[in-house]
Amino acid sequence: MRAAGMFKFSSLLFFALTLLCVGAPRAAGGSMPPRVGRSPVAPNQIAWNKVPEASQACLKCHVAKAITGSALRDWQLSKHYTNGAGCADCHLPAPDAAAAITGASSACEDKRVRRGVSPKNCVPCHAEQFQQFSGGKHAAAWVAMTAMPTTAEQPRALIEGEKGCGGCHRIGRDEGKCDSCHTRHLFATAEARRPEACMTCHMGFDHPQWEMYSTSKHGSIYATQGARWDWNIKLADWFNQPDKASLQRPRAPVCATCHMPKGDHTVRTAWGFLALRLPEKDAEWMQYRQKILIGLGVLTPEGQPTARLDVVKVGKVARLTAEEWQTERDRMVAVCANCHARAFAQQNLEAADSIIKESDKLMAEALDIVEGLYRDGILERPQDRPPHPDLLRFYEVKYPIEQTLYTMFLEHRMRSFQGAFHMNPDYQHWYGWAEMKRDLYEIRQAASELRAARTKSSGGR
Ligand code: HEC
Ligand code: HEC
Ligand code: HEC
Ligand code: HEC
Ligand code: HEC
Ligand code: HEC
Ligand code: HEC
Ligand code: HEC
Repeated sequence: MRAAGMFKFSSLLFFALTLLCVGAPRAAGGSMPPRVGRSPVAPNQIAWNKVPEASQACLKCHVAKAITGSALRDWQLSKHYTNGAGCADCHLPAPDAAAAITGASSACEDKRVRRGVSPKNCVPCHAEQFQQFSGGKHAAAWVAMTAMPTTAEQPRALIEGEKGCGGCHRIGRDEGKCDSCHTRHLFATAEARRPEACMTCHMGFDHPQWEMYSTSKHGSIYATQGARWDWNIKLADWFNQPDKASLQRPRAPVCATCHMPKGDHTVRTAWGFLALRLPEKDAEWMQYRQKILIGLGVLTPEGQPTARLDVVKVGKVARLTAEEWQTERDRMVAVCANCHARAFAQQNLEAADSIIKESDKLMAEALDIVEGLYRDGILERPQDRPPHPDLLRFYEVKYPIEQTLYTMFLEHRMRSFQGAFHMNPDYQHWYGWAEMKRDLYEIRQAASELRAARTKSSGGR
């Protein structure tokens, strides 16, 4: 698939360059614009009669000036070109597009044009995908950029400039970026189905799903056999003929198989990023989770909800009813059951659930220790924030012991349960659980040293 794409691209380029050198024959219809510079697209290759009226002027000027080559080339290779959807359909903003798009300045000579594209522009032709996406988790991704206590303290280039946090969370910016998985201007589903479509964002420190998946058994089958699979088959059609075997049909799941079943663009999981659900039937587990919720500033130490709970709701950070959680779990089990025995899948997921509980137990102990240092005045009580460890401040904390607490929570607790859900024993254990144990040891050790130092400096009293 990839090799074929490369071939097409290079032969197109070669063709275009040959035309430039030899002198292009005139296109039928005679509407070819004068050529300036080296456009990657030879204008006579475009079937002008197929280009919708509203996009004719755009193309003619852009081709003539030899600008935005990637857009011109990739659009010609897309289904939009063959089906008569042109530049104007996406770049003349829908009337109800976000103000950040309509109000932006434009580098284009046609001043109605905006670079930013609202997902609402896709609605006339793809209402279903828009609806699903908008009701899901990706559409909420920009909330984290505006509501998080840490983001206000970071350089703007990280957020608005999309160089750090914003580079991934842009998937939810201005109501959503549909080119995150099927990239512009090819907009190919065969590209989006592949797990690599998710890897730029779902990797690294606190969500290494790419690393976990690609080294799991599922990922290893994809790596060894995926090149032979037909990526043009819709996700819904991968399993609908289980009695027929073919080497061209995928036999292991990719990210989209499990998270976008049958092409559903909603994208949401039962546990979510932080693995917090409410209510919790298991009373012991609820005690641990309560400590984490206090650490996140969602509950006060007295157990009262705070203003941050509203952010949790808007950002859909946690499932807040038992039904909401169960719906997602059932959906996932149904995916596994396309290939595995239902009972096998259920047991696997339940084992992963109990990893969360065990990890929460370690986390609760660590939070207790640091909380105790505040309570006893050994760590200075913060003036500008709640009088307990604040996990949502990430690395913007004062003491080394708080840094350890933050990596224990956001790096190691994450790996511990995410590894379990992605069938990756190594991430679960050595990068997750084992590291949590080490963090806890360091926190205990640091706390007793801090306490000893205090006793010494206050003359042993
Ligand atoms: C199906 C929708 C769609 C069509 C059709 C489309 N674009 Fe785009 N284009 C996008 C999206 C989405 C972006 C990314 C915008 C953003 O960042 O929000 C984009 C970005 C761009 C950019 C800026 C980014 C860059 O890489 O330079 C240019 C220039 C551009 N398009 C030109 C064109 C031209 C010229 C055409 C017609 C040949 C065209 N587009 C057709 C959706 C489309
Ligand atoms: C008369 C020439 C001309 C016409 C007509 C024209 N463009 Fe442009 N367009 C430009 C130039 C010049 C740029 C700037 C390119 C650059 O920065 O390299 C541009 C830039 C753009 C950009 C990027 C804008 C940005 O702010 O980054 C998009 C998207 C775009 N054009 C789409 C279109 C669409 C869609 C149409 C038709 C509705 C269109 N253009 C019509 C000349 C034109
Ligand atoms: C490499 C891409 C990337 C970067 C950089 C990044 N994030 Fe994220 N972020 C993600 C992904 C992917 C998720 C969802 C992961 C999951 O559910 O396991 C996420 C989840 C979150 C969540 C939880 C959202 C929820 O509702 O569950 C918050 C809050 C968050 N990020 C804030 C930030 C902040 C603040 C920064 C910068 C300091 C940042 N992120 C940097 C990709 C990124
Ligand atoms: C004017 C109508 C129109 C608009 C607007 C439009 N598209 Fe399309 N799109 C189509 C048509 C027609 C097809 C081909 C459908 C088919 O082959 O069944 C298509 C196909 C697609 C495909 C599937 C391509 C493949 O490989 O099968 C994707 C992805 C896509 N569009 C994304 C978008 C996005 C994202 C937007 C908005 C930024 C958008 N489209 C706007 C008409 C449109
Ligand atoms: C998280 C990645 C991702 C994002 C973001 C995304 N898509 Fe898709 N899209 C996919 C995948 C994967 C498929 C293939 C689904 C299948 O096989 O049924 C797809 C398929 C499509 C198709 C083709 C449907 C068909 O049945 O042929 C359209 C149209 C489409 N997307 C439009 C959109 C629009 C509009 C948006 C933004 C509102 C969007 N997509 C955002 C991953 C994504
Ligand atoms: C075999 C199915 C399967 C595959 C393949 C898969 N996941 Fe998951 N994923 C899961 C399950 C199960 C969960 C936990 C669901 C729950 O909350 O109960 C999960 C959870 C997640 C979460 C939420 C946080 C977490 O890690 O627990 C994200 C984000 C995610 N997966 C992204 C991805 C990405 C990206 C890929 C591909 C690189 C991928 N997944 C591959 C099954 C899968
Ligand atoms: C441009 C970056 C980006 C890409 C590409 C991307 N995601 Fe995400 N994804 C995010 C961010 C950011 C979040 C967290 C959203 C939030 O803050 O609400 C997220 C959240 C999720 C979640 C929700 C976990 C939960 O909390 O329930 C799942 C599942 C997921 N992504 C799967 C995928 C899959 C599968 C793909 C590829 C087909 C993909 N993503 C591609 C950035 C991305
Ligand atoms: C497309 C089919 C497919 C789907 C969907 C799928 N798996 Fe698998 N899975 C496989 C194959 C094939 C293997 C390799 C079997 C082997 O190791 O011999 C595998 C291996 C595993 C393993 C490794 C242990 C073992 O028995 O070898 C676990 C655990 C697992 N899957 C759980 C799940 C869970 C849980 C889900 C749903 C969240 C799921 N799978 C979804 C096909 C699938």
